[in-house]
Amino acid sequence: MVTATIAAAEALDGLSVADIAKLDFSRVVGLTNEPNMPSGGGETVRRVLQLAHPRPGRPVLEVGSNTGYTSIEMASWLDAPVTGLDYNPVSNAFATHKAQRTGIDNVTFVLGDGQGMPFEDNTFDLVFCSNVTSFMADHAKAIDEYYRVLAPLGVLAAVPIYYRSAPPEPLRSAVEEAIAAPLKVTDKDYWVDMFSREGVSLVEDEPYEYVRQSGERIAEYVETVTRQPHLELQPAEKVAALRERLAHFYELFDENLSYCGYSIMLFRPGHPNPEPVLHATRPARTTSL
Ligand SMILES: C[S@@+](CC[C@H](N)C(=O)[O-])C[C@H]1O[C@@H](n2cnc3c(N)ncnc32)[C@H](O)[C@@H]1O
Repeated sequence: MVTATIAAAEALDGLSVADIAKLDFSRVVGLTNEPNMPSGGGETVRRVLQLAHPRPGRPVLEVGSNTGYTSIEMASWLDAPVTGLDYNPVSNAFATHKAQRTGIDNVTFVLGDGQGMPFEDNTFDLVFCSNVTSFMADHAKAIDEYYRVLAPLGVLAAVPIYYRSAPPEPLRSAVEEAIAAPLKVTDKDYWVDMFSREGVSLVEDEPYEYVRQSGERIAEYVETVTRQPHLELQPAEKVAALRERLAHFYELFDENLSYCGYSIMLFRPGHPNPEPVLHATRPARTTSL
């Protein structure tokens, strides 16, 4: 915890209350050690592992590992080395501490840019990316990188958030400011096209929608997130500013997500049995004669 606490404290030392009130979401997540999760939380991570069933001992990568939730969850289920990559050093320090505290020793957190990763070609059997590609300036370049480091017959698991209906423009621009990245109003097809390549099959596609949260639930969650030892050492007014910023983000995102959905999609390059089916099927509505 010491390294992570020092990293967060040093970052907070250089910030006034007014600066905190202008921080973007990812920076507040790093400073507060927010348990940043993919859409659907741990269930999504476990579903990806179930669907992709990476082979024992073969390396797994999460791009945009933030404070470590997904990489640690994957490592806790796998007998394989897991790497989390993020470009935020404070988030990485918290992620590393969390893994050590829970005794998970098959996960490593690496500092780097998802658009030019410090890994050899064909390294990972599973590359997981959830809500990270939309934060990068060049989506296509980032996805080329994911495929570059993916081993032959590996699986690229993407869990993108997309719009199911257009949000009001003021809401879209407020979210854009919150995430400090250009936010296009993209639908699911945009992401399917982005991740599709010659010779790549979309082997799984599970769509979900979001359920709206009450103001009380959001307030409770902010309290839980900010009740952490490293924040007890900080001036009360800075913690209050972080709390206010988180509440603002969660309320904004909750409204925005009511226009959104997400999908668990698995892409597989070089699938040996690409599978157009003649006699198409669908889930049965009844089984009686
Ligand atoms: C909203 S968080 C979500 C990530 C989370 N793992 C999830 O499951 O959705 C986005 C993360 O992506 C990281 N990130 C954004 N751009 C990046 C880049 N170019 N390279 C590496 N990480 C990046 C941010 O630092 C942040 O930790």
